[in-house]
Amino acid sequence: MTRIPVIFDTDPGQDDAVAILFMLGAHEEIQPLALTAVAGNVGLHHTSRNARIVCEWAGRPDIPVHAGADRPLLVAPVTAEHVHGKTGLDGVPLHEPSMALADEHAVDFMVRTLHEAAPGSITLCPVGPLTNIALALRRDPGCVRGIREIVLMGGAYFEAGNITPAAEFNIYADPHAAQIVLQCGAPITMLPLDVTHQAQTTAERVSRWRALPNRCGPLAANIVTSLERYDVQKFGMHGAPMHDPCVIAYLLAPELFAGRRVNVEVETTSPLTLGATVVDWWGTSGRPANVHWINQVDADGLFARMTECLARLP
Ligand code: RIB
Ligand code: CA
Repeated sequence: MTRIPVIFDTDPGQDDAVAILFMLGAHEEIQPLALTAVAGNVGLHHTSRNARIVCEWAGRPDIPVHAGADRPLLVAPVTAEHVHGKTGLDGVPLHEPSMALADEHAVDFMVRTLHEAAPGSITLCPVGPLTNIALALRRDPGCVRGIREIVLMGGAYFEAGNITPAAEFNIYADPHAAQIVLQCGAPITMLPLDVTHQAQTTAERVSRWRALPNRCGPLAANIVTSLERYDVQKFGMHGAPMHDPCVIAYLLAPELFAGRRVNVEVETTSPLTLGATVVDWWGTSGRPANVHWINQVDADGLFARMTECLARLP
Protein backbone atom coordinates (compact mmCIF):
# COMPACT_ATOMS: atom_id res chain seq x y z
CA MET A 1 0.00 0.00 0.00
CA THR A 2 1.51 3.37 -0.98
CA ARG A 3 1.71 5.75 1.97
CA ILE A 4 -0.26 9.00 1.88
CA PRO A 5 2.09 12.05 1.85
CA VAL A 6 0.73 14.50 4.45
CA ILE A 7 1.53 18.01 5.67
CA PHE A 8 -0.01 18.20 9.15
CA ASP A 9 -0.82 21.80 10.12
CA THR A 10 -1.45 22.04 13.83
CA ASP A 11 -1.86 24.15 16.99
CA PRO A 12 -1.05 21.59 19.75
CA GLY A 13 -3.21 21.56 21.85
CA GLN A 14 -4.14 18.37 23.62
CA ASP A 15 -6.30 16.77 20.91
CA ASP A 16 -3.73 17.82 18.31
CA ALA A 17 -1.09 15.94 20.31
CA VAL A 18 -3.18 12.77 20.34
CA ALA A 19 -3.79 13.18 16.60
CA ILE A 20 -0.04 13.50 15.98
CA LEU A 21 0.64 10.32 17.99
CA PHE A 22 -2.17 8.57 16.08
CA MET A 23 -0.64 9.70 12.76
CA LEU A 24 2.90 8.65 13.73
CA GLY A 25 1.60 5.25 14.78
CA ALA A 26 0.12 4.85 11.30
CA HIS A 27 3.61 4.85 9.75
CA GLU A 28 2.69 2.15 7.21
CA GLU A 29 -0.22 4.17 5.87
CA ILE A 30 0.84 7.82 6.25
CA GLN A 31 4.08 9.57 5.23
CA PRO A 32 4.29 12.77 7.33
CA LEU A 33 6.32 15.20 5.18
CA ALA A 34 6.33 17.77 8.00
CA LEU A 35 4.39 19.29 10.83
CA THR A 36 3.64 22.99 10.38
CA ALA A 37 2.78 24.88 13.54
CA VAL A 38 0.30 27.75 13.72
CA ALA A 39 -0.90 29.99 16.54
CA GLY A 40 -4.27 28.81 17.81
CA ASN A 41 -5.01 26.99 21.04
CA VAL A 42 -1.93 28.71 22.42
CA GLY A 43 0.71 31.01 20.97
CA LEU A 44 3.14 29.94 18.25
CA HIS A 45 6.06 29.59 20.70
CA HIS A 46 4.14 26.83 22.50
CA THR A 47 2.52 25.18 19.46
CA SER A 48 5.87 24.91 17.65
CA ARG A 49 7.52 23.57 20.85
CA ASN A 50 4.69 21.12 21.59
CA ALA A 51 4.78 19.70 18.07
CA ARG A 52 8.45 18.82 18.59
CA ILE A 53 7.79 17.38 22.06
CA VAL A 54 5.15 15.04 20.65
CA CYS A 55 7.43 13.94 17.80
CA GLU A 56 10.10 13.09 20.39
CA TRP A 57 7.59 11.18 22.53
CA ALA A 58 6.90 9.08 19.43
CA GLY A 59 10.61 8.56 18.74
CA ARG A 60 10.41 10.63 15.54
CA PRO A 61 12.83 13.59 15.91
CA ASP A 62 13.46 13.20 12.17
CA ILE A 63 10.16 14.82 11.22
CA PRO A 64 10.63 18.48 10.22
CA VAL A 65 8.61 20.92 12.33
CA HIS A 66 8.17 24.34 10.72
CA ALA A 67 6.87 27.39 12.60
CA GLY A 68 4.26 29.40 10.71
CA ALA A 69 1.87 32.25 11.38
CA ASP A 70 1.86 33.74 14.86
CA ARG A 71 -1.42 35.60 14.34
CA PRO A 72 -4.55 35.48 12.18
CA LEU A 73 -4.83 37.32 8.85
CA LEU A 74 -7.04 40.13 10.11
CA VAL A 75 -8.92 39.44 13.35
CA ALA A 76 -7.39 39.81 16.80
CA PRO A 77 -5.82 36.59 18.12
CA VAL A 78 -7.91 34.33 20.35
CA THR A 79 -6.52 31.34 22.24
CA ALA A 80 -7.93 28.34 24.14
CA GLU A 81 -5.62 28.23 27.17
CA HIS A 82 -8.74 27.74 29.28
CA VAL A 83 -9.10 24.36 27.57
CA HIS A 84 -5.54 23.18 26.93
CA GLY A 85 -3.66 25.00 29.71
CA LYS A 86 -1.04 27.74 29.48
CA THR A 87 1.50 25.48 27.75
CA GLY A 88 -1.17 23.95 25.52
CA LEU A 89 -0.41 20.47 26.85
CA ASP A 90 -1.75 20.32 30.38
CA GLY A 91 -1.95 16.92 31.99
CA VAL A 92 1.54 15.60 31.28
CA PRO A 93 5.11 16.62 32.17
CA LEU A 94 6.83 18.40 29.28
CA HIS A 95 10.54 18.16 28.45
CA GLU A 96 12.56 20.74 26.51
CA PRO A 97 12.72 19.33 22.96
CA SER A 98 16.17 18.50 21.59
CA MET A 99 15.09 18.72 17.96
CA ALA A 100 15.37 22.23 16.50
CA LEU A 101 12.70 23.96 14.47
CA ALA A 102 13.22 23.71 10.71
CA ASP A 103 14.80 26.91 9.36
CA GLU A 104 12.18 27.44 6.65
CA HIS A 105 8.95 29.26 7.55
CA ALA A 106 5.94 26.97 7.32
CA VAL A 107 4.34 28.99 4.52
CA ASP A 108 7.53 28.98 2.44
CA PHE A 109 7.79 25.23 3.04
CA MET A 110 4.19 24.66 1.94
CA VAL A 111 4.51 26.71 -1.26
CA ARG A 112 7.85 25.12 -2.24
CA THR A 113 6.74 21.57 -1.42
CA LEU A 114 3.39 21.84 -3.22
CA HIS A 115 5.11 23.31 -6.28
CA GLU A 116 7.75 20.58 -6.39
CA ALA A 117 5.18 17.82 -5.84
CA ALA A 118 3.46 15.83 -8.55
CA PRO A 119 0.03 17.29 -9.34
CA GLY A 120 -2.61 16.27 -6.83
CA SER A 121 -0.20 14.27 -4.68
CA ILE A 122 -0.12 15.88 -1.21
CA THR A 123 -2.85 15.79 1.45
CA LEU A 124 -3.02 18.83 3.73
CA CYS A 125 -4.38 18.08 7.21
CA PRO A 126 -5.04 21.35 9.04
CA VAL A 127 -6.37 20.90 12.58
CA GLY A 128 -6.00 24.48 13.80
CA PRO A 129 -6.74 27.95 12.39
CA LEU A 130 -6.20 27.94 8.62
CA THR A 131 -3.80 30.91 8.55
CA ASN A 132 -0.74 29.06 7.20
CA ILE A 133 -2.64 27.48 4.33
CA ALA A 134 -4.43 30.69 3.41
CA LEU A 135 -1.10 32.55 3.33
CA ALA A 136 0.40 29.87 1.07
CA LEU A 137 -2.59 30.03 -1.30
CA ARG A 138 -2.49 33.83 -1.36
CA ARG A 139 1.29 33.88 -1.87
CA ASP A 140 1.06 31.46 -4.78
CA PRO A 141 -2.42 30.32 -5.92
CA GLY A 142 -0.76 27.87 -8.31
CA CYS A 143 0.40 25.72 -5.42
CA VAL A 144 -3.13 24.33 -5.21
CA ARG A 145 -2.03 22.11 -8.12
CA GLY A 146 0.01 19.92 -5.77
CA ILE A 147 -2.88 19.34 -3.37
CA ARG A 148 -4.60 15.94 -3.51
CA GLU A 149 -7.12 16.88 -0.79
CA ILE A 150 -7.51 19.15 2.22
CA VAL A 151 -8.87 17.15 5.16
CA LEU A 152 -9.52 19.60 7.97
CA MET A 153 -11.03 19.70 11.43
CA GLY A 154 -13.27 22.73 11.76
CA GLY A 155 -16.73 24.18 11.54
CA ALA A 156 -20.11 23.40 13.04
CA TYR A 157 -23.63 23.42 11.65
CA PHE A 158 -25.96 20.90 13.30
CA GLU A 159 -23.93 21.31 16.50
CA ALA A 160 -23.70 24.67 18.29
CA GLY A 161 -20.40 26.50 18.23
CA ASN A 162 -17.83 25.87 20.97
CA ILE A 163 -16.15 29.28 21.11
CA THR A 164 -19.25 31.40 20.32
CA PRO A 165 -22.85 30.26 19.90
CA ALA A 166 -22.31 30.38 16.12
CA ALA A 167 -18.73 29.27 15.54
CA GLU A 168 -16.20 26.49 16.11
CA PHE A 169 -12.75 27.56 17.36
CA ASN A 170 -10.51 26.82 14.33
CA ILE A 171 -12.76 28.75 11.96
CA TYR A 172 -13.54 31.55 14.43
CA ALA A 173 -9.85 32.08 15.20
CA ASP A 174 -9.23 33.05 11.56
CA PRO A 175 -12.47 33.29 9.54
CA HIS A 176 -10.84 35.12 6.60
CA ALA A 177 -8.27 32.35 6.25
CA ALA A 178 -11.01 29.74 6.37
CA GLN A 179 -12.97 31.47 3.62
CA ILE A 180 -9.85 31.65 1.40
CA VAL A 181 -9.19 27.93 1.89
CA LEU A 182 -12.80 26.89 1.26
CA GLN A 183 -12.81 28.82 -2.05
CA CYS A 184 -9.40 27.54 -3.30
CA GLY A 185 -10.81 24.83 -5.57
CA ALA A 186 -8.96 21.88 -4.03
CA PRO A 187 -11.03 18.86 -2.92
CA ILE A 188 -11.96 19.57 0.71
CA THR A 189 -13.30 17.27 3.41
CA MET A 190 -14.38 18.93 6.67
CA LEU A 191 -14.73 17.15 10.00
CA PRO A 192 -16.82 19.59 12.05
CA LEU A 193 -18.19 19.42 15.58
CA ASP A 194 -21.21 17.70 13.98
CA VAL A 195 -19.07 14.56 13.76
CA THR A 196 -16.29 15.05 16.33
CA HIS A 197 -18.81 15.32 19.16
CA GLN A 198 -19.84 11.74 18.29
CA ALA A 199 -16.25 10.58 18.90
CA GLN A 200 -15.93 11.10 22.64
CA THR A 201 -13.58 9.29 25.01
CA THR A 202 -15.06 6.93 27.59
CA ALA A 203 -13.46 5.32 30.63
CA GLU A 204 -13.26 2.01 28.78
CA ARG A 205 -11.71 3.49 25.65
CA VAL A 206 -9.10 5.42 27.65
CA SER A 207 -8.34 2.43 29.87
CA ARG A 208 -7.23 0.52 26.74
CA TRP A 209 -4.68 3.27 26.01
CA ARG A 210 -3.52 3.34 29.63
CA ALA A 211 -2.99 -0.43 29.55
CA LEU A 212 -0.72 -0.35 26.48
CA PRO A 213 2.79 -1.62 27.35
CA ASN A 214 4.55 1.46 26.01
CA ARG A 215 5.08 5.17 26.77
CA CYS A 216 2.70 6.77 24.25
CA GLY A 217 -0.47 4.88 25.20
CA PRO A 218 -0.50 6.09 28.82
CA LEU A 219 0.62 9.53 27.65
CA ALA A 220 -2.39 9.79 25.34
CA ALA A 221 -4.61 8.58 28.19
CA ASN A 222 -3.28 11.25 30.55
CA ILE A 223 -3.66 13.99 27.93
CA VAL A 224 -7.30 13.20 27.22
CA THR A 225 -8.07 12.78 30.92
CA SER A 226 -7.01 16.40 31.35
CA LEU A 227 -9.05 17.45 28.30
CA GLU A 228 -12.14 15.56 29.54
CA ARG A 229 -12.39 17.77 32.64
CA TYR A 230 -13.14 20.81 30.46
CA ASP A 231 -15.54 19.12 28.06
CA VAL A 232 -17.51 17.33 30.80
CA GLN A 233 -17.80 20.51 32.88
CA LYS A 234 -18.51 22.93 30.03
CA PHE A 235 -20.66 20.84 27.70
CA GLY A 236 -21.92 18.11 30.04
CA MET A 237 -20.31 15.50 27.82
CA HIS A 238 -19.28 12.10 29.14
CA GLY A 239 -15.83 12.42 27.62
CA ALA A 240 -13.52 14.51 25.45
CA PRO A 241 -14.38 14.73 21.74
CA MET A 242 -11.48 13.52 19.60
CA HIS A 243 -11.68 16.51 17.25
CA ASP A 244 -8.28 16.39 15.54
CA PRO A 245 -7.80 12.60 15.62
CA CYS A 246 -10.91 12.35 13.41
CA VAL A 247 -8.82 13.81 10.57
CA ILE A 248 -6.28 10.98 10.79
CA ALA A 249 -9.01 8.36 11.19
CA TYR A 250 -10.67 9.70 8.04
CA LEU A 251 -7.40 9.30 6.09
CA LEU A 252 -6.94 5.74 7.34
CA ALA A 253 -10.54 4.53 7.22
CA PRO A 254 -12.94 6.83 5.36
CA GLU A 255 -15.49 4.03 5.46
CA LEU A 256 -16.00 4.82 9.15
CA PHE A 257 -17.48 8.19 8.18
CA ALA A 258 -20.40 9.55 6.18
CA GLY A 259 -21.45 13.00 5.00
CA ARG A 260 -22.66 15.01 2.05
CA ARG A 261 -21.10 17.25 -0.61
CA VAL A 262 -22.43 20.73 0.06
CA ASN A 263 -21.63 24.40 -0.33
CA VAL A 264 -19.97 25.90 2.75
CA GLU A 265 -19.20 29.59 3.23
CA VAL A 266 -17.77 31.37 6.27
CA GLU A 267 -19.24 34.46 7.91
CA THR A 268 -16.41 37.03 7.94
CA THR A 269 -18.18 40.30 8.85
CA SER A 270 -21.07 39.92 11.32
CA PRO A 271 -19.90 40.45 14.93
CA LEU A 272 -22.75 38.20 16.10
CA THR A 273 -21.96 35.20 13.88
CA LEU A 274 -18.30 35.73 12.90
CA GLY A 275 -16.70 32.41 11.93
CA ALA A 276 -19.99 30.58 11.42
CA THR A 277 -19.82 27.88 8.72
CA VAL A 278 -22.96 28.31 6.67
CA VAL A 279 -23.76 24.87 5.23
CA ASP A 280 -26.19 24.72 2.30
CA TRP A 281 -27.47 21.29 3.37
CA TRP A 282 -30.55 21.38 1.09
CA GLY A 283 -28.91 23.09 -1.91
CA THR A 284 -31.13 26.18 -1.66
CA SER A 285 -28.41 28.70 -2.53
CA GLY A 286 -27.48 27.39 -5.97
CA ARG A 287 -23.84 27.82 -4.94
CA PRO A 288 -21.56 24.97 -6.06
CA ALA A 289 -20.69 22.23 -3.59
CA ASN A 290 -17.10 22.89 -2.43
CA VAL A 291 -16.90 20.64 0.65
CA HIS A 292 -17.51 17.04 1.67
CA TRP A 293 -19.17 17.78 5.04
CA ILE A 294 -18.85 14.81 7.41
CA ASN A 295 -21.57 14.34 10.00
CA GLN A 296 -21.47 10.63 10.94
CA VAL A 297 -18.79 8.35 12.37
CA ASP A 298 -18.51 4.78 13.69
CA ALA A 299 -16.93 5.85 17.00
CA ASP A 300 -16.07 2.30 18.11
CA GLY A 301 -14.25 1.75 14.82
CA LEU A 302 -12.40 5.04 15.21
CA PHE A 303 -11.18 4.24 18.72
CA ALA A 304 -10.17 0.72 17.73
CA ARG A 305 -7.99 2.21 14.99
CA MET A 306 -6.51 4.77 17.37
CA THR A 307 -5.63 2.07 19.92
CA GLU A 308 -4.04 -0.08 17.20
CA CYS A 309 -1.85 2.83 16.04
CA LEU A 310 -0.93 4.01 19.55
CA ALA A 311 0.18 0.43 20.30
CA ARG A 312 2.77 0.65 17.51
CA LEU A 313 4.56 3.58 19.16
CA PRO A 314 7.42 3.46 21.71
O1 RIB B 1 -12.83 23.25 18.05
C1 RIB B 1 -11.89 22.23 18.21
C2 RIB B 1 -10.61 22.58 17.53
O2 RIB B 1 -10.08 23.77 18.12
C3 RIB B 1 -9.53 21.50 17.72
O3 RIB B 1 -8.67 21.51 16.62
C4 RIB B 1 -8.79 21.99 18.93
O4 RIB B 1 -7.44 21.54 18.96
C5 RIB B 1 -8.82 23.47 18.72
O5 RIB B 1 -7.77 23.80 17.81
CA1 CA C 1 -6.26 21.80 16.95
